[in-house]
Amino acid sequence: MNISIQQRYLFSQKLIKEAGKIALDYYLNRENLTIECKKGEKLDLVSIADKKVEEHIKSALNHSFPNDGFLGEESGADEMDSEFCWVVDPIDGTNPFLYGLHAWCVSIALLHNKEIVVGVIFDPVHNELFHACRGGGAFLNQKLIHTMNAISVKDGLMGLGISHRVSADTFTPVLNQLLLDGGMFIRNGSGALMLAYVAAGRLIGYFEPHINAWDVCAGILLIEESGGKVNHFLEGEGLHKGNYILATASNVLYQKFNK
Ligand code: IPD
Ligand code: CA
Ligand code: CA
Repeated sequence: MNISIQQRYLFSQKLIKEAGKIALDYYLNRENLTIECKKGEKLDLVSIADKKVEEHIKSALNHSFPNDGFLGEESGADEMDSEFCWVVDPIDGTNPFLYGLHAWCVSIALLHNKEIVVGVIFDPVHNELFHACRGGGAFLNQKLIHTMNAISVKDGLMGLGISHRVSADTFTPVLNQLLLDGGMFIRNGSGALMLAYVAAGRLIGYFEPHINAWDVCAGILLIEESGGKVNHFLEGEGLHKGNYILATASNVLYQKFNK
């Protein structure tokens, strides 16, 4: 394995735990947080917690890997054409985080020449670290994980996501078909965690009509390394503008949803 990738993989696992600790402290004292609405009337919230966690991650990366690029939800893009580029969501699941629900996480991915080579997702509430390095398998803490043995929508729960960035009709046909086929869905408010759950064999898949790169890059590698199937998210302008995400436990299920 490439030493500089391995070094960054180990570094990212330590860093995400630090970041998770900072986020958890804000979460436990969330009544003191000032909440801002990013785009006016729609439910797109942000707080000082999101900004401080991203600042911590960015400055630690800058210090140890000063030539690497960065794309973060809160601070945007910086030197993204570098050989290595980090893609970071400081808190994925801001709504659950702010409302005291349990589904939120920190997500960090590393691109090497535009390919995802490291993905780490940390859920501090449950002390679950999902991590993968390309070619090395996917893990939950120390344990190797694998997607569920599912070929039908009746074999488990399907994760679905939707945001106000897209219209409802990009989503409702998929929901309708799933229910017609006898399946059932779950939406927990964190796309990154739902992808980690597909990798860990807890969900049969995840679909969202539009999502951003910082939400999914780490999760995509977890899916690939745990035996699942996922669309070519970064193709075209996925890194900068986002894309749909369809991740499933098996090829058979992928074909079922990919119509
Ligand atoms: C959101 C969550 C949500 C998904 C949205 C994302 P945020 O990220 O992942 O589950 O449906 O598309 O924007 O705002 O909580 O970081
Ligand atoms: Ca997010
Ligand atoms: Ca976020």
